[in-house]
Amino acid sequence: MTVSSSAATVRLDPTRAIGDISPLLFGGFAEHLGRCIYEGIYDPASPQADARGFRPDLMAALRELGFTTIRYPGGNFVSGYDWKDGIGPKDRRPRRRELAWQSIETNQFGTDEFMEFCRELGTEPMMGMNFGTGSIQDSADLMEYCNAPTGTKFGDLRAANGHKEPYGVKYWCLGNEMDGPWQIGHLNAVEYGKKALEAAKLLHMHDPAARLILCGSSGPGMPTYPEWDRVTLEMCWDQVDYLALHYYAENRDNDTDSFLASASVFERHVDDLAATLRYVKALKRSKKEVFLSWDEWNVWYKGDATQGNWTEAPHLLEEVYNLEDALVVAQWMSVFLRRSHVLKVACLAQIVNVIAPLLTNAESVLKQSTFWPFAWFRKYAAGVSLDAQVESPTYETKRYGAMPLLDVSASYDAATGKQALFLVNRSRDESLPLTVVWHGQAPASLDTALQLAGNDPKAANSFEKPNGVTPRTLDAIRVEDGRAELLLPPLSFTVAAG
Ligand code: AHR
Repeated sequence: MTVSSSAATVRLDPTRAIGDISPLLFGGFAEHLGRCIYEGIYDPASPQADARGFRPDLMAALRELGFTTIRYPGGNFVSGYDWKDGIGPKDRRPRRRELAWQSIETNQFGTDEFMEFCRELGTEPMMGMNFGTGSIQDSADLMEYCNAPTGTKFGDLRAANGHKEPYGVKYWCLGNEMDGPWQIGHLNAVEYGKKALEAAKLLHMHDPAARLILCGSSGPGMPTYPEWDRVTLEMCWDQVDYLALHYYAENRDNDTDSFLASASVFERHVDDLAATLRYVKALKRSKKEVFLSWDEWNVWYKGDATQGNWTEAPHLLEEVYNLEDALVVAQWMSVFLRRSHVLKVACLAQIVNVIAPLLTNAESVLKQSTFWPFAWFRKYAAGVSLDAQVESPTYETKRYGAMPLLDVSASYDAATGKQALFLVNRSRDESLPLTVVWHGQAPASLDTALQLAGNDPKAANSFEKPNGVTPRTLDAIRVEDGRAELLLPPLSFTVAAG
């Protein structure tokens, strides 16, 4: 690793804000895929499970992560899903061949069970609608089922299923990755734009306050990116509130130095789409804003099975996360803060067992390395994100050339007076001395100092060895004369807050 100079400086001024940190940046995603739902959030066969099929050990770990919203039920799954299969008496729900992941769907968990799960966790449901095999009428019916009072067909059906009060779901995804040829019922941009516009009309007739999320490109590598986004935004601008983006980071060529600089890819992705939003806004002479919803994001590349061979709850996409993955997740969440003016929703894909920070087996729940950065951002990033001025030594990467060793974001919450810094040292072998200098109000001290660090970027946790990557609590960091000195170990993520 070639490194330039040796120390870093971060300058902060709590009055220099980038944007409000939307609480919905700390969302998750749960799909009927592999063991995310069955043997994950719904596991009635477990001796630990309560009457609803929820395991207290998993619920406790999910509470620690504190997802503010959960997107459901897919994903690719949603594009072949008939939501009416998943309601009513369980013994009458059909078993189906689920085509997206070639699995058996028992429909024992559906919309009402998901609402109960969200209620129990205190999280906001974000409902996906089927734009593949589904019609705009199916979407409108789902909204009526969720949000209408009793007195008409679907409100009455919900009440007959034991849920008299409407759920009041606010966030609705107009399909999933409809630009992708793999998607059931894939459409081109104009076909999708038309369908989304007509669906949005119906949905707003039901509920003018519904917040609608338009499918953007399913990744910057798509041949139709970002034209898909421009075309569909031009067609639907006045009807929608968010444009969805999806991305999965990877280290297929085992180039850790480049992988650890992934933040530059995430920033470029947001910036390209923010520019597309600005363009369409200008074209429309619009006063309205549309924001970004990064409603699928994570590291995913290690090649676990993706097809279930027509079995129930197959082990699919059970990615094992290591230290370098956790450092990428930490940077990703720093990008959420650094782009908080335009990025307002983000959903970690997914919440349990499938590319997830948590894995279950019959006995216990395993916290993977990526659990900690998510939980810490969720807990300490609040208020506004700060425009940190950063001077950092650089290192050479194959993919991106010279990149800063330090990745940093910061927040300030006027309500509590708390500030927080989120710091990644990308170096594989060198500690990084850091001086933080405040211009304006400095915290009295940084009482909370948490760190994830190690020598081996591939270190991971397993059920047999659950402590391969575990956090450390550091001593409080002194702030004197508006300055703090830190030494960031190699391959580390540090949160300093106070
Ligand atoms: O999260 C796994 C899959 O990745 C989702 O079903 C799909 O939307 C994306 O391609």
